[in-house]
Amino acid sequence: MKFTYYGQSAFELQAGGKTLLFDPFISPNEMAKNIDVNGLKPDYILLSHGHGDHMADLFTIEKNSGATVICIADIAGWLDNKGLKNVHGMNIGGGFNFDFGRVKMVNAVHSSSMPDGSYGGNPAGFVIYADGKKIYFAGDTALTYDMKLLADESLDWAILPIGDNYTMGIDDAIKASGFINCKNVIGVHYDTFPAIKINKAEAAKKFADAGINLELPGIGESLDL
Ligand code: NI
Ligand code: MN
Repeated sequence: MKFTYYGQSAFELQAGGKTLLFDPFISPNEMAKNIDVNGLKPDYILLSHGHGDHMADLFTIEKNSGATVICIADIAGWLDNKGLKNVHGMNIGGGFNFDFGRVKMVNAVHSSSMPDGSYGGNPAGFVIYADGKKIYFAGDTALTYDMKLLADESLDWAILPIGDNYTMGIDDAIKASGFINCKNVIGVHYDTFPAIKINKAEAAKKFADAGINLELPGIGESLDL
């Protein structure tokens, strides 16, 4: 499964022969100015919650690609009202078998509202089951005991926020890796804004000391998961 990072919490997974784009916030991100938003043609867009730093480019990319948006039912209703045709609403704890694999929507402890102030439902994370792999994307979240529910999933990779202030920071993300029993972590949701600047060397050392493989791919870089 190929992972490509687009900054903040935006990334793409090639999974089950399809392209999945997560939390598209690219064009407002100065750090991602080399990414051509109009060149992104995903089959699916997975949205963890309604905040602007996760959905700024959703409409543009959906229009360019006709991608199906997978999100919580409350946001699905809002997108439907905005005229989007291809929306798949889910809710926390529910899974669905798509043509690329299975998606389970899981709890995140955060807030969620839409750019116009509308109710955004509960924030979410996702577990993706595809190509024989299990990938957890935590979305924006605090450290929460609910993560322990994933401990027996044998997750291959976890994509965790590490930027602090709005989400877990480095220390809590290390605890989260223990809760979910996963030794391969990709850190996201850092450095985009002054409040979430991290010391990457410190992060690398702390994860290494905890025996966890931390990857911090550059924007535009890919990893084989
Ligand atoms: Ni958020
Ligand atoms: Mn965020």
